[in-house]
Order: sequence, then C-alpha cells, then structure tokens
Amino acid sequence: MTTNAQAAICRGHEQPFTIEQVELADLAPDELLVRVVACGICHTDLAVRDEQLPVPLPVVLGHEGAGIVEAIGSAVTAAKPGDRVVMSFNSCGDCPSCAIDAPTYCYNFFPHNWSGKRADGSPTMTLAGEPMNANFFGQSSFATHAIAHQRNVVKVPDSAADIPLERLAPIGCGLMTGAGAVLRSMEVRAGLPIAVFGAGTVGIAAIMAAKIAGANPIIAVDVNDGRLALAKELGATHAFNAKDDAPGKIRELCPQGLGYVFDTTGINSVIEDAWGLLAPKGICGIVGASDPSAMLKFNESQFMGGGRTVMGILGGDSDVGPFLCELIEHHLAGRFPYEKLIRTFPFEQINEAIAASESGEVVKPVLVIGKE
Ligand SMILES: NC(=O)c1ccc[n+]([C@@H]2O[C@H](COP(=O)([O-])OP(=O)(O)OC[C@H]3O[C@@H](n4cnc5c(N)ncnc54)[C@H](O)[C@@H]3O)[C@@H](O)[C@H]2O)c1
Ligand SMILES: [Zn+2]
Ligand SMILES: [Zn+2]
Repeated sequence: MTTNAQAAICRGHEQPFTIEQVELADLAPDELLVRVVACGICHTDLAVRDEQLPVPLPVVLGHEGAGIVEAIGSAVTAAKPGDRVVMSFNSCGDCPSCAIDAPTYCYNFFPHNWSGKRADGSPTMTLAGEPMNANFFGQSSFATHAIAHQRNVVKVPDSAADIPLERLAPIGCGLMTGAGAVLRSMEVRAGLPIAVFGAGTVGIAAIMAAKIAGANPIIAVDVNDGRLALAKELGATHAFNAKDDAPGKIRELCPQGLGYVFDTTGINSVIEDAWGLLAPKGICGIVGASDPSAMLKFNESQFMGGGRTVMGILGGDSDVGPFLCELIEHHLAGRFPYEKLIRTFPFEQINEAIAASESGEVVKPVLVIGKE
C-alpha cells in the first residue's frame, strides 16, 4: 500500500526548500517504512543542493533520520514495527568492500545512495503522480515518512531507551564519520598528537573520539572562535584560529611533528599545510567535500621517506550497526557528549535551520518532524 507523506523538496541553491505532499511506493522485501521523528541537517545535504555532488535535482534530502518503524518487507530482520531506529547510509551487501564489513566503500555506493531511485532504477517516491528523486542515502528523511533498507537501519539498543530520537538522529553521518575516522580509519594511538582542521560536527566528533583514544595533545583549528571554544570544552587541549598562523603555532607546540592530522574543511591549502606537519609514520585523514576537480600536491621524498599516509575517509569506516551502538554506549557513559552541538528546529523551519548552520551559529541543527 502506498503511503502519503509530507516531504521537503530541494530544487537547488536559488530556491528555499518547500514542504509538499508526496506518495511513497510499496515496500520491496528488504525495505522498511519509518515514521520519521527527527532528522539532522548535514553539510552534505547542502553540497547536493549546491550541485557539488552528482545527485539529481529536484530531490528529497535528509540522511540523518531517526524514527519508528511502521511496516517491514518480507525479508527484513533488522527491526520490526514499533521499534525505534536510526538510519545511516545504504550499501549493496554484495561487493568486495561489503564482504569485509567496509560498506562505506561499497562498490555500488552511488546507485544505493545518490541516484535518486532504488539501485534497480525504480522510484521510491512520487509527487503529483510523477517520480520524485529520493532514496537519498537510502532514506530521504526530510519527510514525515521514509523508506529505509535492511542494511541502513539500526535498532536503538534498549540501553538508550531514555535517549530521545531527536538526539539520536544525527549519529548516523557526521558524528559517526568524525569519531570513526579517529577510532577506526586512522586508529589513533594513545599519547600521540593530533590536529583537527575544522571544528564542525565532524571535527568535534573527531576531537571527542581523540580524547577517548587518549591522543595528546589534541589541537583544534578553525576560523570561528565560538567553535574553537566548544572544541576545548569537548576535548581539545589547544585551539588555534586558522587566520592566525595555526601551522606555525602547531610546529612550536609539537616540534617533532604530529602523529595525525584530520581535515574536515576540504580546502586544498589547508590539507597541504596539515600534511606538512606530520611526523614520520604520520597519517593525514581527509573527509571534507571539496571541488571535484581539486588536486593535492605532496613532496615525494617526504611522503616516502617518512612512511607517511594520506587517507581518504568515508563515513569513518563505520560498519553501521555495531559502531553506532558503540557510539551510543560512549554517549551514555558521558564520553561522547555530542548533545552540546545540537539545536532543534520544527520541520517547518527547515530553511531557518539551514541558515543557522551556514552562518556557523549552530553546529548541528536537528529537525523535529513528528512525535515519538
Ligand atoms: N567523508 C565523509 O564521509 C563525510 C561525512 C560527513 C560529512 N562530510 C563532509 O565533511 C565536511 C565537514 O562537515 P561538517 O558537518 O563538520 O561541516 P561544518 O561546515 O560544520 O564544519 C567545517 C568547519 O570548517 C571550518 N573552516 C572553514 N575554513 C577553515 C579553514 N581555512 N581552516 C580551518 N577551519 C576552517 C568552518 O568554520 C567549520 O566550523 C563537509 O565538507 C561535509 O560535506 C564528509
Ligand atoms: Zn557493496
Ligand atoms: Zn552527512
């Protein structure tokens, strides 16, 4: 049975999002119908709006959804009707990356997350009888209801029964990426220095995770002093404004170089400067969305001679279910206090929430779409 829903339609940079009546398709055997309670807004939604990523417009975005399962397809085992769930990215389950539990590098990532349709080409949503691009990250959660998949839904553990879904929603993207980059991709070692460039959701998640890993010192770099103050509150031992010779100050603090640098800005010059701060065996992790034509330059002998690594990172190498539950446990234990990044907005104020994110006023806006 098709489902009527209200969804925020994105038609590009020039127009505000508008909430309109849509229809969701019948569920496939491996799909779930989720009544969305809340959804975080991420920089990646805005990168799609601005056509920096190859997702077709118009589209229903939103990829940090949480809600309550209303119905499931015949092959679903991840959750049952009535379960509280968070949604993350989707993957095929059938490629060499999925085979080693590295679904963020799924060979079929595009058709399952960014094509605007299911991987088989069928639409999950229609608007006035015409197919509407959706299935964004296997969910499109800027809507009252979303079609999610067996592979991108995580049942909220019973231990987190008291944590509201509006707080759990954003855990499946930027927070997972920053924390996973430190704990899983780079496997940051205790006692080694790390610098994080960009103290937004991803950067601050990395800083909280660096504290969990025991890195020292933990250096935050941003152009926004408010965000630097927040980074210090949440685990950074030092904070430097990028406008004020941050690389020079880091060299003074750590003359032997850094074990890890982590870039969330996607700015070439920032990444190249950060790479230049690495100690032997140092790792430079990169996650920021950048100009698709951008090329990076590194000195070859420094690269090879010091055994340095440049690492592209997607989704913090998360294996979805187990890692999200691990982060929820860190949150419950007070080691991952990401609630300090969140401000909630009613669904109708989606454009105001986006503006607050873009001005830097709010680190993690979360839309409250329905009641729990
Ligand atoms: N690779 C992935 O899997 C993945 C996942 C989620 C997000 N992302 C991307 O990661 C990036 C960060 O996401 P976010 O949600 O934290 O974004 P954000 O905009 O909240 O954070 C970026 C931060 O960089 C700061 N900044 C800007 N210029 C700077 C400079 N020159 N030096 C230092 N800091 C500077 C900004 O002030 C801001 O605080 C985005 O590009 C997003 O699209 C990637
Ligand atoms: Zn795959
Ligand atoms: Zn995201």
